[in-house]
Amino acid sequence: MKTRITTLLGIKYPIILSGMSWISVPKLVAAVSEAGGLGIIASGVMTAEETLGAIQETRKLTKKPFGANITLYFPGAKRNAKIIIDQKVPVVNYALGKGDWICKEVHTYGGKVIATVTTLKHAMAAQRDGADAVIVTGHEAAGHGGAVTSLVLIPSIAEKIDIPVIAAGGFADGRGLASALLLGAEGISMGTRFMNSVESPVHPSQKEVSNRTEVYDTVYSDKIDGLPARMLRSKGAKRIMKKRLNPLSALVRSREISKMLGFPWAKLFVGIILMGPKKAIQMARMAVGFKAFQLGTMEGDNERGVLPIGQVTGLIHDTLPVKEILKRIDAEAHAAAKALNSKIK
Ligand SMILES: Cc1cc2nc3c(=O)[nH]c(=O)nc-3n(C[C@H](O)[C@H](O)[C@H](O)COP(=O)(O)O)c2cc1C
Repeated sequence: MKTRITTLLGIKYPIILSGMSWISVPKLVAAVSEAGGLGIIASGVMTAEETLGAIQETRKLTKKPFGANITLYFPGAKRNAKIIIDQKVPVVNYALGKGDWICKEVHTYGGKVIATVTTLKHAMAAQRDGADAVIVTGHEAAGHGGAVTSLVLIPSIAEKIDIPVIAAGGFADGRGLASALLLGAEGISMGTRFMNSVESPVHPSQKEVSNRTEVYDTVYSDKIDGLPARMLRSKGAKRIMKKRLNPLSALVRSREISKMLGFPWAKLFVGIILMGPKKAIQMARMAVGFKAFQLGTMEGDNERGVLPIGQVTGLIHDTLPVKEILKRIDAEAHAAAKALNSKIK
């Protein structure tokens, strides 16, 4: 398979592992890169030391290209970005912020930059800022997908920008990959499918959840971590969505946030006071969301925690090694192309 993304990133399949907190860690990242895709380390909830350790460990596990993501909206993102850039990680993926300075610095060592976006406005901004490609995330996606479904969002952006588009949200098989290419994308990025793989560190019970849940079993709300996000419909999700937070909650939770991100507490505390009530509530939600996502992902607790999961969970019925997932998607995409050719003559 050859697309602008395989050429840009030097990979065999145009398939990318989405940056998933606690899940896109060296073992899974290296498995995806070794199998011919591109693994991306999720640095969002990592401290600076953890980010450096993850990069070093990934380099021990694979000599193939890999990436690291930076969630610019999180406290501590700049510090992680510096490490990722100093380490000359081949592909840097940023989201939720302006990445012109990242593009500039990564390009000085010959690295590539991918911005994750959910709207045309942000895709155009990423292109202007110098990104080499964009991941466009539709409404079906686990976590922070956009308001518009992939089927409509991908072509609407692909036809208006020049840099290649990687489609995310709702992709788990070869039919999906072939469809994404038809919609104007040059590759796909998958979260839920790789979360449910043998190499994934998600709690084993959540792989079972993914195998049995259907396309209807998710909810989309901004009441978990403050940004619209999709997750498993569960007791935990219902409970947290009802939780009322006020600006004081952010100060009360500031120790928790600073500990989780390895960010200086005093700096965070002053920052919360200066940011005003609306943003402080958002910060409190982020802390609640982090905790819930960690419990859901790593402890398999769907009563107190929350599991990000995409609608595509309804198309996934098995837990396979990453290598088999990629091989199967490749074979299915070729079969889909043949079937299409026989239908459209
Ligand atoms: C368990 C899990 C954890 C995730 N964590 C994050 C995260 O920390 N930050 C983020 O931006 N997206 C996160 N995502 C979303 C993915 O990066 C990606 O956008 C999404 O999974 C793509 O849609 P799909 O699940 O339909 O493949 C997560 C997804 C899953 C399944």
